[in-house]
Amino acid sequence: MRHESATPARRRRAPGLFLLLAALLTGPAAALPVSDALGGDAERGAAVYERCQACHSLTRNRTGPKHCGLIGRRAGGVEGFAYSKALRDSGILWDAASLDRFLENPFAAVPGTRMGYAGVKDPQERADLIAFLAAAGEC
Ligand code: HEC
Repeated sequence: MRHESATPARRRRAPGLFLLLAALLTGPAAALPVSDALGGDAERGAAVYERCQACHSLTRNRTGPKHCGLIGRRAGGVEGFAYSKALRDSGILWDAASLDRFLENPFAAVPGTRMGYAGVKDPQERADLIAFLAAAGEC
């Protein structure tokens, strides 16, 4: 039996939120919870990532920094890449939540960023993209 009567106002939260919290609490070592956090699908994310490949690669710096090892890294953390001061000084640690915010609207999340891309507006596409980036693993 459940305890609905004791707490009638309390609603069950979406399981995704718990996974997101778990990912935030357990930190960079927990690659799997990060990829699951927003309910993303890495395979679909690979297709979304094609939009990023005008500037990014998983394995080497191009117009944008390489994306291997992204989860758990400080923003502006790829050695030898010439980041904007705005991104370097942002204090962001890349995890599911911070990536979701940045990728929705890079200019709003980090005013002054040099990433010339308007963002990915669809939350499911962002979740898929983040699952793909998390699955890419270390450099
Ligand atoms: C027009 C080129 C361009 C496109 C397209 C682009 N980016 Fe970027 N990206 C950049 C540049 C340049 C930077 C460095 C920004 C800075 O220094 O402010 C960057 C930075 C980033 C960072 C921060 C990395 C770090 O090491 O801190 C992430 C994450 C990122 N991009 C993800 C993406 C994703 C995901 C996509 C596709 C949806 C994408 N970008 C599309 C150019 C681009």
